[in-house]
Amino acid sequence: MTLEKPPRILQGGMGVAVSGWRLARAVSLRGELGVVSGTALDTLLVRRLQDGDVGGHLRRAMERFPLPRVAAETLKRFFRPGGRVEGEPYALLPLYRHTVDLARERLQMLAAFVEVELAKEGHGGRVGINLLTKIQFPNLPLLYGAMLAGVDCVVMGAGIPREIPGALDALARGKPAALRLDVEGATTPVHVEFDPALHGEGGAREVPRPDFLAIVSSHSLASMLARKSTGKVNGLVVEGPTAGGHNAPPRGETVLNERGEPVYGTRDAVDLRSLGELGLPFWLAGGQGRPGALREALGAGAAGIQVGTLFAFCEESGFAPELKRTVLKRAAAGDIDVHTDPRASPTGFPFKVVTWDGGREPSRERRRMCDLGYLRTAFALAGASAEAGASAGADTRVGFRCPAESIERYRAAGGDPADTAGRACLCNGLIAAAGMAQPRDQGDEPPIVTSGDDLVSIARFLGGRTSYVADDVLDYLRGPEPAALPLD
Ligand SMILES: Cc1cc2nc3c(=O)[nH]c(=O)nc-3n(C[C@H](O)[C@H](O)[C@H](O)COP(=O)(O)O)c2cc1C
Repeated sequence: MTLEKPPRILQGGMGVAVSGWRLARAVSLRGELGVVSGTALDTLLVRRLQDGDVGGHLRRAMERFPLPRVAAETLKRFFRPGGRVEGEPYALLPLYRHTVDLARERLQMLAAFVEVELAKEGHGGRVGINLLTKIQFPNLPLLYGAMLAGVDCVVMGAGIPREIPGALDALARGKPAALRLDVEGATTPVHVEFDPALHGEGGAREVPRPDFLAIVSSHSLASMLARKSTGKVNGLVVEGPTAGGHNAPPRGETVLNERGEPVYGTRDAVDLRSLGELGLPFWLAGGQGRPGALREALGAGAAGIQVGTLFAFCEESGFAPELKRTVLKRAAAGDIDVHTDPRASPTGFPFKVVTWDGGREPSRERRRMCDLGYLRTAFALAGASAEAGASAGADTRVGFRCPAESIERYRAAGGDPADTAGRACLCNGLIAAAGMAQPRDQGDEPPIVTSGDDLVSIARFLGGRTSYVADDVLDYLRGPEPAALPLD
């Protein structure tokens, strides 16, 4: 992405599958930055193939993947021409281990390539990919796959993405990259590594280095990333606590309000003037989905705004259509709640959960188990067996646990049962919200919907409509003076 002409509006990356290629493409076609979500893309690819790849889009993009054998093998293994039989469970990918095997790396590269390729298909607009720093294992192959498709920008938060800029530099040159893995109790550093040269016949390809935007919610993190990252940070997204998805916790001791939500105060506000002194372009995120917000942001020295919630419920978003309709109908009727839940996410970060019908959350009543594993915590194993999820061949043997899995298993993996209270399986719940729920004996996995606080006032934007498209959001955000916001 050439930040000489930065986009004014970033469509926020929204996982799982909410900001897919259709949404990112629609935004990119209008000259702003469309961002695909990179979260769980490997699982999404294999589920969509099992559902018959309606429209043939995935197969069209897979044909262009530089490793044709990988695309062919993936099709052979997962593509079901007529889709699954009603109620048939999806075939699963194995859970991650410390040492990711080459086949899984190739699948991740393919999945990211396909998503970016489709978002960029047939136009010259810019497209970004969003990854959660916290989900460490798949990130390097996902980044390289996205780079093979010419991704313009990488946007990452949910953790401290200090090592990503250097990794992008290395991958762009076709060189190996490594990220330090957070391993509880490890006495020596543990890394996840990825070498592009191990993939593809004639060695690694050199690819353009995308711009890197870090998502931050404090000046101290912004300044640390600007100064101490392993490579160049090209810009910042400053996200406030009303934004959808995960939020940064408040600074200092967490105090909860009467609804059990973390209370944010003036200490959590970012001083934009001193942020500007870092000399990096920045975009404001969280509650910016209203007319006039863009102008105010520009006036405060920002390069623009990042918006999620309004895009999350448009026709091109990846939420299951019936779920989208229900949420919009309930929101328009004033019967919707967005709760900032400090417990729901296995990551421990506050996470926004949307409820209606008086707030029943079937996702908390599901049988606890972990079969997707993206949000598991890694810990150092002392003398445990390889069957417990240990990696072979590394100095530190690594196990995994998730506080949303079965309490007995969590305890057996050294976890404190107190951590399990109130946790929801975001992996299964968010994929279910994208219309790919895993069928279980007791019924399909229940969906979890996340959104920013602005959902409760979306009726103002809807103005009586029951549906809308990404173009409507862009028109609304840009306001009545399109000439003031030239396309590049
Ligand atoms: C449904 C939904 C899912 C989101 N998922 C992610 C995500 O996976 N990664 C991320 O960095 N931000 C995520 N976000 C945050 C958005 O990228 C964006 O910063 C935020 O929505 C902006 O605030 P707003 O919701 O008030 O417009 C998500 C937001 C929504 C609404």
